[in-house]
Amino acid sequence: MNKPITILGIAGSLRKSSYNKALLRTALELVPKGAKLEIFDLEGIPPFNQDLETMAPLIVREFKAKIRAADAILIATPEYNYSFSGVLKNAIDWASRPHGDNAFEGKPVAIMSASISMLGGARAQYHLRQTFVYLDMYPIYKPEVFVALAHQKFDEKGNLTDETAKKLIKELLENLVKWTLKLRKG
Ligand SMILES: Cc1cc2nc3c(=O)[nH]c(=O)nc-3n(C[C@H](O)[C@H](O)[C@H](O)COP(=O)(O)O)c2cc1C
Repeated sequence: MNKPITILGIAGSLRKSSYNKALLRTALELVPKGAKLEIFDLEGIPPFNQDLETMAPLIVREFKAKIRAADAILIATPEYNYSFSGVLKNAIDWASRPHGDNAFEGKPVAIMSASISMLGGARAQYHLRQTFVYLDMYPIYKPEVFVALAHQKFDEKGNLTDETAKKLIKELLENLVKWTLKLRKG
């Protein structure tokens, strides 16, 4: 029997009522049987300083260990100024360093995004995909989960109320698990 697939979820927003954090919480409920999702909060990761990359702070070492222990990564990113957030980029930069010690190398990855605009963070997702090239990650492409007009898609408690978005997140997770199993077989 296959070992359960472990997925590490990362949101690129520190905001308490973040729609992207809420997408990850939704994913916790939709994760397929035989897989587990754990969320890592990026709060507390300091700005990257290359002088410190060989003696990274504890939180960064913990983050890298969680990434390494996971079979796959799920990222929920906001769109800031037509790109993904600096908070997420900063965390990625730490986890990819020092050279030769990139924790993301070879990891399957899926992305989703929520934004208050009509495009739902599409531009952020395409920028993020570019970084997967240098990181040597294996992204899945479909379904594309763009939760547009996010302010209309969550209730006051931060629960996703949009059934289409929930269906897409479920499908995204199923595809990520299938892709991870395929890569595991080699
Ligand atoms: C600095 C900043 C830049 C933003 N730029 C964009 C943008 O380029 N495109 C977009 O769709 N939304 C943009 N927004 C709005 C975000 O989509 C919105 O704040 C969203 O709620 C952020 O995600 P969160 O809820 O997970 O924190 C921006 C917000 C901030 C704070």
